[in-house]
Amino acid sequence: MSSTLPSNPRPPRKTPEQLRSYRWYGVNDLRSFGHRSRTAQMGYHPSDYMGKPVIAVVNTWSELNSCHTHFKQRVEEVKRGVWQAGGFPVEMPVMTLAEPFQKPTTMLYRNFLAMETEELLKSYQFDGCVLMGGCDKTTPGLLMGAISMNLPTIFLPAGPMLRGNWNGRTLGSGSDTWKYWAELRAGKITEEEWKGIESGIARSPGHCMTMGTASTMTTATESLGLTLPGFSSIPAVDSRHAQFASLTGQRIVEMVWTDQKPSDILTAKSFDNAVTTVLSMSGSTNAIVHLVAVARRAGIDLTTARFDELARITPVLANLRPAGKYLMEDFFYAGGLRALLVELGSLIDGTQMTVSGATLGENIAGAEIFDEDVIRKRANPVVERDGLAVLTGNLAPDGAVIKPAAMEQHLLKARGPAVVFKDYADMAARIDSEDLDITEQSVIVLQHAGPVGAPGMPEWGQLPIPQKLLKQGVRDMVRISDARMSGTSYGACVLHVAPESFVGGPLALVKDGDMIELDVPGRRLHLDVSDEELAARKQAWKAPKRPFERGFGVMHQLHVTQANKGCDFDFLEEPVTKSSEAETGTAAAASAQRDEPEIH
Ligand code: FES
Repeated sequence: MSSTLPSNPRPPRKTPEQLRSYRWYGVNDLRSFGHRSRTAQMGYHPSDYMGKPVIAVVNTWSELNSCHTHFKQRVEEVKRGVWQAGGFPVEMPVMTLAEPFQKPTTMLYRNFLAMETEELLKSYQFDGCVLMGGCDKTTPGLLMGAISMNLPTIFLPAGPMLRGNWNGRTLGSGSDTWKYWAELRAGKITEEEWKGIESGIARSPGHCMTMGTASTMTTATESLGLTLPGFSSIPAVDSRHAQFASLTGQRIVEMVWTDQKPSDILTAKSFDNAVTTVLSMSGSTNAIVHLVAVARRAGIDLTTARFDELARITPVLANLRPAGKYLMEDFFYAGGLRALLVELGSLIDGTQMTVSGATLGENIAGAEIFDEDVIRKRANPVVERDGLAVLTGNLAPDGAVIKPAAMEQHLLKARGPAVVFKDYADMAARIDSEDLDITEQSVIVLQHAGPVGAPGMPEWGQLPIPQKLLKQGVRDMVRISDARMSGTSYGACVLHVAPESFVGGPLALVKDGDMIELDVPGRRLHLDVSDEELAARKQAWKAPKRPFERGFGVMHQLHVTQANKGCDFDFLEEPVTKSSEAETGTAAAASAQRDEPEIH
């Protein structure tokens, strides 16, 4: 882990008069009198801010975000770094997106956070920003907004929490929740033991420490070049996390002077680096939706097909749960992301620029693996390839996703009769019924769980195994939905089926008893029903009533895109001009900051 900042600032440097904030503070008119007098009202002398980069410290802290409880302290450390470097830090609280608490799903509000971030940066006097996130959707939400605004931007990852512990056993976020919940339902553990797990599974600040969406997105963000090198691996409560927060504050000030913006960093190749990182860590399937959305904000057409292409050549090297054995704390001690990227060798493009002011290759140079069971050598991978797989077929014309490394391997090729639930309530009511006509060869289908229909595409995709099958010892079976799945989950769950059933995708047409074929090696998902019959069913299909009648939800259901396009709002994407196949050149987003209306 690098503990010092590279020192090759990119000329030319701005003058104080070229700062965006100069329009608020520097000019001599009635408006700027108001800006200066009200800044004085807050106790600041002009020497605190005049001629200095004004840095937004965009903070997703709240008393309900258990993963970000340390952000109250970290924001002070970021501000310390900004002051040290000659900037003027301003904390800006934004929507918190607390994964464990927010309903119906934080995914419904990811785009809300993105819009809030963009509008906040646009409407105030900021020259640059530090984004403080980590809990699942906070990372993509913050990135999407900041990329659209295109001010100098650096990301501060929350860091993983410490390993869970119960009765001498190590517990992993989510993964062990699902595992022991199944054990409880099967009568293998007691209620008292279940309560012990409840109090021991999340025992420090920080995001989920399995390879869930949080770890997936923070490590991907580091590989994209938007985080100081090594930062995403550091546990939240490690003192080095606080040190890096201060370094992040220092660095953003320099980025403002050298005008280093997301559009100077993000390229099709840097997104390939991010995708390869996710695949090598058997990261969350959610990364597909989020990285596609983030890329499209940068004008880069990252496709689900590109994920599949890279999956075919990328070995899984990080031995992390749920696909592997260890947790993020172990990953840090084993050398962290920098060591993993070194081991990936030519699969990573080290020429890509990063927020450190150095290239990714320079950032990771010299990193070593200290535990070759946690971070495997390429000669001894956890899995040879296919950290994720993208399926297509008549059941998912625009694609679906599965995580082959985290499922029972005998299900990679499977065929069985559908057992259909028309929505989540239907499934909850019937799944454990003794009368349910289901065997372990059946294929469980959940409809109306996608971006519009659920609403917000919640993480319902790890559909429960019926209790009567659990009691028979069944622990995995083929399950299909248009929902997402927590990255901490596992199982033969086909996810993100697009187009979703709520808008009339083929998933809406499946009936009990229809035969479904899953062929992961062949990347195929097929509904064994004739085209004529499907056409007749489509003719008879009636669009359901949309879930929202007021508020943000109305905007969501009118404008959210399907999973293969990242579930962003159609009016927020940049025109996509760059292929996701590796090519040179920077992001198509405006190379200057976003056009703004004249500011008075
Ligand atoms: Fe916050 Fe998992 S609950 S990252």
